[in-house]
Amino acid sequence: MQTIKKTYNSILPHIYAFLGKTYLPYYPSKISIESGNLCNLRCPLCPTGQQDKTARKGFITFDVFKRIIDEIGKHLTLIRLYNWGEPLLNKDLLRMIQYAKERRIDIKISTNLSMKMEDEQIEVLLKSGLSKIYISCNGASRETYMKYHVGGDFDLVMNNMKRLNAKKHVLSECRTSLVWLFHVFKHNQHEINKARELAEKMGIKIKVSKMRPDMGKEVFETTQQAIERDKAWLPDNPEFSVISKKRRKRIGCTLPWTEIMINWDGNILPCCAVYSEKHAFGNILENSFAEIWNNEMYVSARKEILGRKNTKHTICHTCKRSGYLHG
Ligand SMILES: C[S@@+](CC[C@H](N)C(=O)[O-])C[C@H]1O[C@@H](n2cnc3c(N)ncnc32)[C@H](O)[C@@H]1O
Ligand code: SF4
Ligand code: SF4
Repeated sequence: MQTIKKTYNSILPHIYAFLGKTYLPYYPSKISIESGNLCNLRCPLCPTGQQDKTARKGFITFDVFKRIIDEIGKHLTLIRLYNWGEPLLNKDLLRMIQYAKERRIDIKISTNLSMKMEDEQIEVLLKSGLSKIYISCNGASRETYMKYHVGGDFDLVMNNMKRLNAKKHVLSECRTSLVWLFHVFKHNQHEINKARELAEKMGIKIKVSKMRPDMGKEVFETTQQAIERDKAWLPDNPEFSVISKKRRKRIGCTLPWTEIMINWDGNILPCCAVYSEKHAFGNILENSFAEIWNNEMYVSARKEILGRKNTKHTICHTCKRSGYLHG
């Protein structure tokens, strides 16, 4: 029953987008909620790593999280509880995960795992009910890792990953999937196989993934501009990058039909590539989600994507002019 509901919820938005509907009678089933846009690392292609000042900084509190879940939780099947910061720094993280799990919503995080962790912390994290933990580690050696995860500690990450994995296998009730996330850049492309071997040795899943150019600027610039600025980071094999001179232009975006991003301060953004509150479509602490989801900003963004006349300029207008993300 749950599987049928999940499939239905994930197909419905695409049908409405395909039919060109701009007023939507359903709620999205998958959302991202920002745990907090502060971080202990300084990754060069991440706006938080760059200490970008265009967004207000903070962590979501349990009360704000609860308010979101109490309003839209019954429609949700998945929450990504991270976006532009380090989720393990949020003191309310476990309470939020438990609150979502009690409502049978899958919840996952992505973490740099570059922090000292007590045995007890590892255990409660694994017992919290998270469905997945992505561990961001773009290197298979100390030297390579440090080029992207500035301020991080490769040995600490490896050690934490091993401890998490070992504990997971002791806890028979633990269903959390651990995935080492390895984004391929020019500086680490020679270590893909080494990383795969290391992961196999540790008995942990690895996902070799496409890199993105400067993630805070993607919406505002063309592919060509991103390639020019970030060419030193681009891997030789274009299959490992979301941008490529050969890639076809995206013909549109369905994200304002399928997903939403809720910032730590309640601001609602149309997707997780948009960073600053100045592009918000509304704030869930000021208006109900039902009001925001079909407000003038949302309807204008959808109409703009469909090539129809509309009334309000949104960040999706800018993104479309840039050729859409990764176009
Ligand atoms: C901004 S991070 C926030 C979560 C956490 N701090 C982390 O790094 O996992 C969100 C996601 O972006 C990914 N990421 C960071 N830099 C990237 C890049 N240049 N290209 C693609 N993904 C990237 C991370 O691996 C992570 O899964
Ligand atoms: S660890 Fe994550 S949030 Fe922190 S700077 Fe790196 S990519 Fe950004
Ligand atoms: S059009 Fe661009 S800014 Fe708008 S939702 Fe899509 S990717 Fe995000």
